[in-house]
Amino acid sequence: MKKIMLTGDRPTGKLHVGHYVGSLRRRVELQNTGDFDEIFIMIADAQALTDNADNPEKVRQNIIEVALDYLACGLDPEKSTILIQSQIPELCELSFYYMNLVTVSRLQRNPTVKSEIQMRNFEASIPVGFFTYPISQAADITAFKATVVPVGEDQMPMLEQTKEIVHKFNSVYGETLVEPKILLPENQACMRLPGTDGKAKMSKSLGNCIYLSEEPDEIKKKVFSMFTDPNHIRIEDPGSLEGNTVFTYLDAFCRPEYFPEFLPEYENLDELKAHYQRGGLGDMKVKRFLNNVLQAELEPIRNRRKEFQKDIPAVYEMLKAGTEKAEKVAAETLRDVKAAMKINYFDDEELVRMQTAKYTEE
Ligand code: TRP
Repeated sequence: MKKIMLTGDRPTGKLHVGHYVGSLRRRVELQNTGDFDEIFIMIADAQALTDNADNPEKVRQNIIEVALDYLACGLDPEKSTILIQSQIPELCELSFYYMNLVTVSRLQRNPTVKSEIQMRNFEASIPVGFFTYPISQAADITAFKATVVPVGEDQMPMLEQTKEIVHKFNSVYGETLVEPKILLPENQACMRLPGTDGKAKMSKSLGNCIYLSEEPDEIKKKVFSMFTDPNHIRIEDPGSLEGNTVFTYLDAFCRPEYFPEFLPEYENLDELKAHYQRGGLGDMKVKRFLNNVLQAELEPIRNRRKEFQKDIPAVYEMLKAGTEKAEKVAAETLRDVKAAMKINYFDDEELVRMQTAKYTEE
């Protein structure tokens, strides 16, 4: 069986370090292993509209931002097909048929949808499109016959829902759809990178995210104001790592080679952590180290982004070519799906023959 990777992001803002350690970095690594027959990266604008219906301009503006962030991180259109969801009508058709295989109560039990409904104060009036986006996400994944979907932990319920739809479809209509496997981030810190204020949710309005395109002085400012251990007041006090954002970021970003480069008095992160817990290591020193690490990680991304920013029309051309290529694949799947469901009246000669026979035998 072909190895096909698919994943995507909602274009509601520039991508930040949470996206990077949660999924982007892994995608680029996987892309560069050459292990995959096909890679599809989706800018999920139609999904973004499910809770931004009144603000299409925001979605429109952010498509190019997400595309630039992708290219900046090293996604290579020669190896990965980057596509815009809304421009592939086959995805809507698939969603429509999958809706028959999912119950309202099953959607209500989806934990990610549940918490998003709360976050958006949708309790009293949930838009149907928003409520059903897990079904549309199943269409995204199955349209491209994805076998591997690298995403953050919050997407686990979507993958579960997709697998259920695949099973249901295949058992009712015959083996047609491919079951995807989820690929989660490698460590806990990458799984849930908190905002710089220590809050679980990174958001533009809270001002607690570091964007991939952030300038060096902004990165520094955000690192130096990061949440640490509020009880670690004097340097000699023992410090706690639990919920300590600076250490969480180090877990997500630190590489062994950064110690000789920026903090040669420590061998590795375990040694640094042990000293902090023992007492005698000040927050400022750790923050200075983290700042160096983040600057080293983000500088090449920012520079590459600036190169791509010089030719915006070329980025749109790339998106158009990727979307066209992807649509052909989705159209093939839709054809298979309709054939399996027997709603392919006009390309089924057997059907015409049978109906003819029915009326000539009489
Ligand atoms: N739900 C994903 C997010 O919020 C975006 C997305 C849409 C996606 N379709 C997808 C992710 C298909 C993986 C596969 O980030």
